Amino acid sequence: MSVGISIEHLTHIYNPRTPTARTALHDITMQIEAASCTAIVGVTGSGKTTLVQHFNGLLKPTEGSVRVGDIEVTSDRTRSADLRKLRRRVGLLFQFPEAQLFAPTIYDDVAFGPRQLGLAEAVIRMRVIRALDAVALDTSSEFLQRSPFALSGGQRRRVALAGVLAMRPQVLVLDEPSAGLDAEARNELYARLAELRANDGLTLVFISHDMAEVAALADRVFVMAGGELRLSGAPEDLFRQPDDLIACGLVPPPLAQVTRLAQEHGWPAQPQHFTPEQVATALAAGISSASHSSLSQAASGSPLPRTGEGPGVGASNHNHHMQGGADAE
Ligand SMILES: Nc1ncnc2c1ncn2[C@@H]1O[C@H](COP(=O)(O)OP(=O)(O)OP(=O)(O)O)[C@@H](O)[C@H]1O
Ligand SMILES: [Mg+2]
Repeated sequence: MSVGISIEHLTHIYNPRTPTARTALHDITMQIEAASCTAIVGVTGSGKTTLVQHFNGLLKPTEGSVRVGDIEVTSDRTRSADLRKLRRRVGLLFQFPEAQLFAPTIYDDVAFGPRQLGLAEAVIRMRVIRALDAVALDTSSEFLQRSPFALSGGQRRRVALAGVLAMRPQVLVLDEPSAGLDAEARNELYARLAELRANDGLTLVFISHDMAEVAALADRVFVMAGGELRLSGAPEDLFRQPDDLIACGLVPPPLAQVTRLAQEHGWPAQPQHFTPEQVATALAAGISSASHSSLSQAASGSPLPRTGEGPGVGASNHNHHMQGGADAE
């Protein structure tokens, strides 16, 4: 069953009532829908990590509340049974999780969480294999017995993600999961996340500095600035009005900037075109309408008799090819 997260007036102060007290979150209220994919963005130090560490009870609110399904965490009332339940429900992949692997073998690392749940070893083994498979890692016994420290950084991160998945969370929270990954590893990660959402109905929350990634994955975006929630909305709405985003120190994805410039030059692209597919469709539509209008011009000025039906068809061989290209669109 999918669960959502409801945050009401959340304030977090690190080291409260000390000379080093620091307000990292101030009066945040937000709703994350069950089974949605939410991006949390903002410049360095804006409070993103602090915010998501409340989602699984790693940090407790100084004021306000965090509710995940039927579990609520507030500053004064949190039963430890509720916290344990919350940590099972919400899997949190840390920023640079590969630094936190610790077990002597890959198997032991991924099995660590399920072992805490007191499951039988046969069940644990099944979970470990399924989780490694979900992140496209080898599941042979030879691989399972290898040290996680003998892997590349990207592979280690996948082991860490497998460790979170082996807990079978209903909400998956990823703190900058693609930072430092190469393009292929990123694309694989996105494909895996899409599969997890489709198959398991996971509610997905991720932090990112990459607006193209946000554009490609998120249904909804929350923008943090100075510990406050400054903006929220669908990616296309935020990228259509980039001034607000820019005021938070962020820039829209490069393709959104391209379509804005293209629009100024008369192309039919709209500012909400910001994924490669959307831009390609807009370009094809532009080529199509441009070829239609040049065909109409050629046809009206042509001394040749019109043989086809409809404007411009058959006006010349050259134009016929263009028409064909547009039809093939
Ligand atoms: N353990 C801590 N003790 C005191 N202050 C902290 C602690 N962790 C974070 N902060 C402060 O809280 C603020 C928010 O930090 P946070 O780690 O949530 O930012 P972030 O948006 O995740 O940044 P980044 O993009 O660099 O990861 C910063 O000003 C930071 O210095
Ligand atoms: Mg962070």
